[in-house]
Amino acid sequence: MATTNSLTFTHHGDSAGDPGAERGRIGAGRAHGKAILLGEHAVVYGAPALAVPVAQLAATASATRWTGRDEGADKISFAIAGPGTASVTPPDMDSLRHLVTEFKARAPVVERMSVDVLIDCEIPQGRGLGSSAACARAAVLALADVFDRRLDAEAVFDLVQASEKVVHGRASGIDALATGATSPIVFRAGAARELPIAARFDGVLVIADSGVGGSTRDAVELVRRRFERDPAARETFVYRVSGLTRAAVRDLADGRPGDFGARLTENHGLLRDIGISTDQIDGLVEAALAAGALGAKISGGGLGGCLVALAGDHRGAAAVARRLCEAGAVRTWVVPVGRSASHAH
Ligand code: PMV
Repeated sequence: MATTNSLTFTHHGDSAGDPGAERGRIGAGRAHGKAILLGEHAVVYGAPALAVPVAQLAATASATRWTGRDEGADKISFAIAGPGTASVTPPDMDSLRHLVTEFKARAPVVERMSVDVLIDCEIPQGRGLGSSAACARAAVLALADVFDRRLDAEAVFDLVQASEKVVHGRASGIDALATGATSPIVFRAGAARELPIAARFDGVLVIADSGVGGSTRDAVELVRRRFERDPAARETFVYRVSGLTRAAVRDLADGRPGDFGARLTENHGLLRDIGISTDQIDGLVEAALAAGALGAKISGGGLGGCLVALAGDHRGAAAVARRLCEAGAVRTWVVPVGRSASHAH
């Protein structure tokens, strides 16, 4: 869908189009959506997690710099356009403000900043698809481009992560990395590496939007309170999810889609048991399995949002996607992995 809504705020003072200033350079930045395959929530407590980039869901940013005035407060405006941006919430705005402050210190930019940042985000919000991290990443890259600063991967991660902490409260960093990754990743304790997938692994992921938004911040907080009351439940959850995720890494490396799918479904059960699934998502998981999926689970923060299912091939993925839409999913995306991914190019 094309742009539906936009939102603007100003960092200091009024919106850009700085009086007495001239339009200068334009910088560009880009990031994309992501889906977590295994390990969400447990990753906050040190477990490994797997994620795939969703390249078809882009977040792009352009930053226009105004020059000619050296005095006065910084003038920074952000506009975000894309599906669902009418519901951009104060933490999201706070996070972008915070991002600018951190960028200025880290880049560093000592001169007065007068810049308009326009973010076009195709990633639906509140669906566990990484929209906040992708918007922050695209904005950081556009700011670095327009101010001609070279930021290494670690600096970009730190800046995106600083903004994610404002949005999510407690963020593991998986979104900050996965929204810039070019291949599936295994993430643990703030670092990611490429996930090796056997050339013979045949699998096609179907990501489905339940149409219901979920707040990652609320979900992370719900889990935190639950584990505070019951530390043994935390230990069991983290131990079992870690075991599933490690086994899933071996399934991918050895080319066993059936086993990998079974781990997804088992991980769903563990996430449901800690209370972050919903009846609707449980129903969609059942529908995907009934349509022949090798496995299915909720994906991301939960309390709504998306699920991810694994089909054996493209034909199977189409059947799963169709059934999910009949069962109430509002849209689906197909992400081939392994051999299916190389055939898709
Ligand atoms: O942004 P989401 O909804 O995909 O959630 C990220 C995954 C969590 O484990 C729930 C939180 C985190 O920061 O790791």
